[in-house]
Amino acid sequence: MATFISHSPAETESLGEQWGRAVQRGWVFALSGDLGAGKTQLVRGIARGLRVSSRVHSPTFTLVNEYTGGRLPLFHLDLYRLETPNQIHGAGLDEFLRPDGVAVIEWAERLADGGWKLEAGKFMTVRIEVTGESKRQIIYEDSGA
Ligand SMILES: Nc1ncnc2c1ncn2[C@@H]1O[C@H](COP(=O)(O)OP(=O)(O)OP(=O)(O)O)[C@@H](O)[C@H]1O
Ligand SMILES: [Mg+2]
Repeated sequence: MATFISHSPAETESLGEQWGRAVQRGWVFALSGDLGAGKTQLVRGIARGLRVSSRVHSPTFTLVNEYTGGRLPLFHLDLYRLETPNQIHGAGLDEFLRPDGVAVIEWAERLADGGWKLEAGKFMTVRIEVTGESKRQIIYEDSGA
């Protein structure tokens, strides 16, 4: 487990960028943290590290946005709107837990709420805590094969 203290959106993005440069096919980033914590900001960095050129926006009407054109396909999921275990199970998430590319999941704690276990494949669990107006504590740990 490691902790990164970010002092600005740009610093959060560059942490993501480092991860995006190093990440390998099949990885899942499971992000948690409050509204406005900086999850999407981190995804922008991951996309940049993968050399995805399109602008990253959180999926709002769909569950997942797919970005191609980078070193690996990037699947960006936001589970905020999934509330019940049934919705979570019905959402067709399996393919994104073993992605043919890289998956980044905002509100990944919803998975645990639905009884999923993040045990398949390679995971990076990331928790972002708001510790000041522009300060964030980013706690992360990689696990799995
Ligand atoms: N150190 C920081 N790291 C990341 N974001 C920061 C930081 N300081 C301030 N911010 C601001 O916090 C906000 C983070 O927004 P972002 O959309 O990334 O959050 P989110 O966790 O994805 O929220 P949501 O749950 O609504 O999707 C932005 O307005 C950003 O400018
Ligand atoms: Mg977001």
